[in-house]
Amino acid sequence: MKLSIRSIFKKRETFSECPPADKLPAHIAFIMDGNGRWAKKRGLPRSAGHAAGTEALREIIRTCSDIGIKHMSIYAFSTENWNRPKDEVDALMKLITRYFKSEIDELTEKNVRITILGGLDAFPPEQKQELISAMERTKNNTGLKLNIALNYGGRAEILSCVKEIARESAQGALDPEAITYDTISDRLYTKGQPDVDLLIRTGGDERISNFLLWQTWYAELIFEKTYWPDYSKERLFADLNVYAGRERRFGRTDAK
Ligand code: FPP
Repeated sequence: MKLSIRSIFKKRETFSECPPADKLPAHIAFIMDGNGRWAKKRGLPRSAGHAAGTEALREIIRTCSDIGIKHMSIYAFSTENWNRPKDEVDALMKLITRYFKSEIDELTEKNVRITILGGLDAFPPEQKQELISAMERTKNNTGLKLNIALNYGGRAEILSCVKEIARESAQGALDPEAITYDTISDRLYTKGQPDVDLLIRTGGDERISNFLLWQTWYAELIFEKTYWPDYSKERLFADLNVYAGRERRFGRTDAK
């Protein structure tokens, strides 16, 4: 089939538009990978990649909020990331703290509700307090539910849930026969939120890396070659169009 220049441009145009609201995922998750390689390509320290990644994150949160996405989860710092060189961990922690300080007003104004996924006790008292107050301050907001995974690991989350259920069963407060999928979902950090519909990972690697293991059970996956700092509203719209075109069967033969 011969494509005219005009039809190619038309195709691009459609891709730069957001799909209609009923075709959007209720819950979108991001593994923001490639900050280090983005920096290396430019001869910069890795921390510069994380700083540039924070700028990209601002644009994506704003866009998700503007187009009416209800739930968004981002993987900002995993339980495994503590094993990185100390100066990189320190730089990341500084960036995250600065982000909360500088963005909280705009997020509150945009009606965004912040939830931290992960164990807060690992953070120094001042930073822990900053994270708690961000959750407190936005807890009644009804717009985008923004989940920020910090010191988060999917296995650790499931393990802690299993321990809680075992404790409740041992105390006679929970009948093991009555345990359902909801018993588990209700004990995760994402309690009350829908499972992930779309998981996007930038940076070219194709794995889940211990992120939202329970919640992504039937998520659509998109792996982007783009490094996170270069991820943009246009790339997001392109990915949302790919998602809108997918047929989700949830193990059945017909679409749901
Ligand atoms: C992975 O890239 C990215 C991270 C471990 C950190 C992600 C953090 C941000 C985007 C900014 C800070 C977050 C907030 C909430 C303000 P990598 O370092 O593994 O990159 P590489 O694979 O190229 O080495």
